[in-house]
Amino acid sequence: MERTKADLEKAYPGARIETFVTDITSRDALCQVRDALLSKYGHIDGLINNAANNPKVEGGSKNLGAIQFHNFPVEMWNEDIAVGLTGSLLCAQVFGQVMAEQGKGVIINISSDYGIIAPNQSIYRKEGVPEDQQIVKPVSYSVVKHGIMGLTKYLAVYWAKKGVRVNTLCPASLENGQDPAFVQKISQLIPMGRMSRPDEYVGTVLYMLSDASSYMTGATVVLDGGRTIW
Ligand SMILES: NC(=O)c1ccc[n+]([C@@H]2O[C@H](COP(=O)([O-])OP(=O)(O)OC[C@H]3O[C@@H](n4cnc5c(N)ncnc54)[C@H](O)[C@@H]3O)[C@@H](O)[C@H]2O)c1
Repeated sequence: MERTKADLEKAYPGARIETFVTDITSRDALCQVRDALLSKYGHIDGLINNAANNPKVEGGSKNLGAIQFHNFPVEMWNEDIAVGLTGSLLCAQVFGQVMAEQGKGVIINISSDYGIIAPNQSIYRKEGVPEDQQIVKPVSYSVVKHGIMGLTKYLAVYWAKKGVRVNTLCPASLENGQDPAFVQKISQLIPMGRMSRPDEYVGTVLYMLSDASSYMTGATVVLDGGRTIW
């Protein structure tokens, strides 16, 4: 975080950037961040609920073997829900309430193309791997990403007259050095024929955070190269 902060300060001279280590599943930890921001700046204008647990579905150090739906551990489900849904709820309570009291603010909840469509599990299959060793995109991911949209709509209506706008952004898969066979398989499911780059979200996030989108609330903004309309 310190490195990223230094990079940003260099790229945007004069920008004031604060970093905090926190755990969004802890209300007390979030209240400390809120209080630190309020004591320094006096207001909080935006919240992006972006954190996700992204478990290692291969089982990783827990040696769980291939995790599919039938053996998906409740422990992993609880951890994913705790970050993706409960964490977003707590951030909205702690920071969103400040915005509601100010009479102005913006919340962006990060969902996914998998908040709209089900994962096409065939793209995660590996040739030559036995059926019971194939891994799948976890069910918790779909549930969290669909649930985020419910949170958005609830809050958009709840705070509509308090000046707090709440919207969902659905990014789709970023190319990030994945296995070329995977990149090829997923690209075939995307009308634009490729995965996304991080810089392709910047303009939309700025638009959603700014008054340029002043009449937009409860909306779902989808940036997916057309994947979910195909
Ligand atoms: N990368 C993609 O292709 C893609 C596609 C669609 C949607 N998304 C969504 O975009 C968001 C960001 O994705 P990413 O690829 O950067 O994920 P990532 O795993 O790189 O980042 C998630 C971040 O959440 C943080 N986090 C996890 N638990 C936390 C907790 N309890 N408290 C505080 N922070 C916690 C992690 O430290 C990590 O920095 C996620 O919501 C993801 O579902 C990503």
